Amino acid sequence: MHKTTDAGSLPNLLDRLHHDHEGVKDLFEKICEGLDDESLAATFSELRAALLAHAEAEEKCFYGRLLKEDDESRFFALKADVEHGLVEGLLKRLTDSAEKGSDEWLAGCIVLRELVEHHIDEEEGEGFDIAREILEDGDLEKLGAEFEHEKQRLMKV
Ligand SMILES: [Fe+2]
Ligand SMILES: [Fe+2]
Repeated sequence: MHKTTDAGSLPNLLDRLHHDHEGVKDLFEKICEGLDDESLAATFSELRAALLAHAEAEEKCFYGRLLKEDDESRFFALKADVEHGLVEGLLKRLTDSAEKGSDEWLAGCIVLRELVEHHIDEEEGEGFDIAREILEDGDLEKLGAEFEHEKQRLMKV
């Protein structure tokens, strides 16, 4: 029988962010392990779409909320937003490159992976700790639903 009343049974914002982070890490692993040209192009464009939609929805539904809380959460959100900018800049450079799969391109991809993994570690460490401190369970569930809705909307654009 389907249970509907268990508290915390809905994926909250932090569960959803973590799930996306794991998906992105898997895509980087595939790309950096080496793929044929066709799979590389398809996997990179999947990675790009996932990163951009995740980042934009996260800025709106997570960082937007942290900016309004207190000094610590505000500064965390400002720093994380700068990192999103660095990731987006490098992502654009890799997207615009005519030589996907070359050594130069792969070197850029490895740096992007390091940046993203560093960002995820801080987000799931400091960022999630702050979120658990300042947001109620109900807020996290509501923000999770808003995040998913926003991300799906962005993936369709
Ligand atoms: Fe994230
Ligand atoms: Fe982020």
